[in-house]
Amino acid sequence: MTLKQALSQAKRVLAANNIEDASLEGELLLRHVLKISRVQLYLDLDQELTSQQETDFWDTISRRLSGEPTAYITGHREFYGLDFYINSNALIPRPESELLVEKVLHLAQHHSISTIADVGTGCGAIAISLALNLPQVKIYATDISAPALEVAAMNCQRHRVAQRIQLLPGDMLEPLPEPVDLIVTNLPYVKYSELHPSADFEPVLALNGGSDGLEKIRQLCRQVSNKLHPEGYLLLEMGQGQSEAVTTLLHSLFPQAEIEVTPDLSGIDRVVSLTLTSGR
Ligand SMILES: C[S@@+](CC[C@H](N)C(=O)[O-])C[C@H]1O[C@@H](n2cnc3c(N)ncnc32)[C@H](O)[C@@H]1O
Repeated sequence: MTLKQALSQAKRVLAANNIEDASLEGELLLRHVLKISRVQLYLDLDQELTSQQETDFWDTISRRLSGEPTAYITGHREFYGLDFYINSNALIPRPESELLVEKVLHLAQHHSISTIADVGTGCGAIAISLALNLPQVKIYATDISAPALEVAAMNCQRHRVAQRIQLLPGDMLEPLPEPVDLIVTNLPYVKYSELHPSADFEPVLALNGGSDGLEKIRQLCRQVSNKLHPEGYLLLEMGQGQSEAVTTLLHSLFPQAEIEVTPDLSGIDRVVSLTLTSGR
């Protein structure tokens, strides 16, 4: 069987099992088995797979069909144009979270920001993307999950920012040693009753936002005043349909603050940005 034939069969099987982006996923899995770049894959399309390569490839396809996410099979996920190591101890970073990074970078262009905390950093994708784009900023990255922080530590090494990002284990803002200029966070916000089957593979701790999905976000918002400088910023990601509840909560906690909601590329309200004013 040639690479081209393997790709086309894989695409058919994956699509028939309702896997979105069947073509891309088949490609990622084949590249993983062959350990080759995308360019090489396309140059070698007419090459024959060895029988071992064929077996390994169909093994990865059956893992995918059993629901295991491609990123856990390959150990890679791209986020903000960077390659991150990933395993099942950390949530797979989602493309919609790139909006958080963009919003922070935009703010940093126009305001003086010298300290940032990424709360619930998972594999470190947000903190590392920010560190690479904001070389003068000191970054703290916290997570309650020690195994997730190990993944973040490997990614900090991989992207050579281990000296710039302080990884801190602990609950919400508790581990921060000082108030910061900006808090960015993608906390779990899925209702417990709506946890997706991929939660069989991804850590429940990274997804479970409690009975209404907002338990973690509420917990964090209530701690913010102690760990954010006056005139500091809070940017948080939220799920579909949560915008009103989150903005109402923030208005009640910080009546003087400016609050802005930004939709993602699908038009879903995704990021809430809060700017504290001196009066709070
Ligand atoms: C939705 S994941 C986001 C991971 C990563 N920031 C990203 O965007 O890919 C939420 C993260 O929050 C962490 N987390 C859950 N509860 C927490 C808490 N009470 N304090 C700190 N981190 C928490 C989870 O372990 C998980 O890594």
